[in-house]
Amino acid sequence: MTPRSSGIDLWAADVLVDPYPTYRALRELGDVVYLTHSNLYALTGYDVIKDALADPARFSSAQGVGFNDGVNQALQGTSLASDPPTHTQLRAALSENLTPRALRGLGEQIKANAQALVARLVKQPSFDAIDEIARRFPIGVVADLVGFQGEARANMLRWGQAAMEVIGPMNQRTVENFPIAGELYGYCSQITQDALTPGSVGWGVFEAENNGMIPAGAARHIIHQYLGAGLDTTLAAIGNTVALFGRFPEAFAKVRADLSLVPSAFNEVLRYYSPVHVWSRVTTQDVEVGGATIPGGSRIAVMLGAGNRDPRHYANPDIFDVTRNPIDHLSFGYGPHGCAGQGLARMEGAAIIEALATQIKSFRIGEVARAPSNVTVSFDTVPVIGLEVA
Ligand code: HEM
Repeated sequence: MTPRSSGIDLWAADVLVDPYPTYRALRELGDVVYLTHSNLYALTGYDVIKDALADPARFSSAQGVGFNDGVNQALQGTSLASDPPTHTQLRAALSENLTPRALRGLGEQIKANAQALVARLVKQPSFDAIDEIARRFPIGVVADLVGFQGEARANMLRWGQAAMEVIGPMNQRTVENFPIAGELYGYCSQITQDALTPGSVGWGVFEAENNGMIPAGAARHIIHQYLGAGLDTTLAAIGNTVALFGRFPEAFAKVRADLSLVPSAFNEVLRYYSPVHVWSRVTTQDVEVGGATIPGGSRIAVMLGAGNRDPRHYANPDIFDVTRNPIDHLSFGYGPHGCAGQGLARMEGAAIIEALATQIKSFRIGEVARAPSNVTVSFDTVPVIGLEVA
């Protein structure tokens, strides 16, 4: 059977700032919907998304995971744009430095930094949670992780945002961001070990290359990926956290009353507002999904955000419930490419939630704004007002 089709443009500004009605409309059309506007097959349901991500033989990453040819070419050679067995090798090198053991030392530092940041902020009557927490905090974490100093630190936010934006189709946002993503690529391709803080994870990746544990030239790719994948996503997740606690004060009160809910609350933030709303694959052969056939060689829109709101998998999916603990959400992907940095992202999210919950009794938020962005679902401003210190 041919999948049902829709003329919806996933990258229209009004869809990007509020994608949830579109997710519902597409899910109701089917688990697979052909998007005539972009010539894509969208996977919309939780189960079909999970199955596709677990099946790299039929849903391949080798032709890139973005929605334009330029980015898919630029991604060649990275773990993101590879399938097993090549992927297995690249992935081992990349995740070696992000294992819980490797991150153990960093965890305490991240917690202390989050507490210190919130302690400074609660002295002010109001602040913008995006500028002061969501942007500032992950930049510090990733910069320390990689061991960046100087020029790179100052440019990380622009570079990280551009690296995600160019995953989109060839629209204006992508065109404007290509030169900025190119700066990041240029910087990473000439970076040397002595530019990084001795003992940092980035420095260690070069040590691994020097010792022949990873192929020559791989260290620069890995550092590029930490920056490209690890910043804008975490920024979105942390901003979404504050916005959701502001919108649902009873949820914040529950976490304050029981700090063991912190990991569950962060999982629910990630499920409710998936930071990466769509990602891509290409079918290697004709594939039957939910009774519909996707032709081989088709570009797929893997709608992680729609899967996370699938009522067949999560009861009352549009309700934000910090006790739900949806550990199986799709926001970190699934299968061989499942986010290599999720341990770090979870540490960052938990540290911020704990710092807010221990130092703030209650707060309100002013008018929030989302800026349309091709891949990440994040807020541009979340004013925190009416703050009562704990
Ligand atoms: C809340 C924050 C984050 C979210 C929502 C997120 C999301 C994702 C998703 C959806 C994928 C799967 C891509 C695919 O299937 O093709 C992925 C992969 C990846 N992520 Fe994350 N990520 C986050 C934070 C981080 C951090 C902090 C780092 C590292 C510093 C990181 C590094 C990576 C890398 C290297 C990959 C590629 C893995 C591979 O190709 O095997 N991510 N991430």
